[in-house]
Amino acid sequence: MSAAVPQFDESVARLRPEQRHALARYWARRARSELGARSGFAVIERALASAPSAPVVRELAAQALADERRHAQLCLELAALYGGRSVPTPTPAPFDAPRYGVEPELEALLQVIGMCCVNESLAVVFLQACVPSVESPQLRAVQRRHLADEVQHARLGWAHLAWVPAGLRARAREWVAPLIDTQRSAWRERVATLPEEGYPGHGLPPRAVIEAELMSAVDRVLVPGFAYLGVRV
Ligand SMILES: [Fe+2]
Ligand SMILES: [Fe+2]
Repeated sequence: MSAAVPQFDESVARLRPEQRHALARYWARRARSELGARSGFAVIERALASAPSAPVVRELAAQALADERRHAQLCLELAALYGGRSVPTPTPAPFDAPRYGVEPELEALLQVIGMCCVNESLAVVFLQACVPSVESPQLRAVQRRHLADEVQHARLGWAHLAWVPAGLRARAREWVAPLIDTQRSAWRERVATLPEEGYPGHGLPPRAVIEAELMSAVDRVLVPGFAYLGVRV
């Protein structure tokens, strides 16, 4: 990652101590969930290895595995910047890999749809809502770099979905709406833990803004994306 978290930032220094602590706690929690995402990509990597997949998609999965670890480190550095002291590496957020009990090609496709097409696309929408208002140019650059990685993680999913035979996509169809529902609920729960007014200058808009962006993304991004590839949800 070219953009690094600075040791000092003027916009952070201007915050009150309780605001700094709240943001430090937020970034420490984000580090934990990035490590959980890494566990998810370990599952994706195995699933893609056990089913036909394009080399570029397998490369993207390996890259995503490395990215999520880097994202966790980045979040820990942000927690340290806001909190004024280093933060130990947390245990990863639990990742219960769903098991669909279907043949390997469909199993891999469903894992990829849930983790990448849906979850990572929503992660992109979340970061798009958060990043532009970051006041500090250095911190905004750090978060833009993070956003760019998440775009690649979502692309992995859409690329795999486009690559598999149309018959396999058709068999995945009935699973897609429940997968969207599950991920939407998970994101809603996550957003409910965020501060109501947010800290817009620090990458956290008011909670209602984030929730509205995420919920509308289902109709703006996910449903058209699946429809484009012939998967009518
Ligand atoms: Fe990430
Ligand atoms: Fe990601």
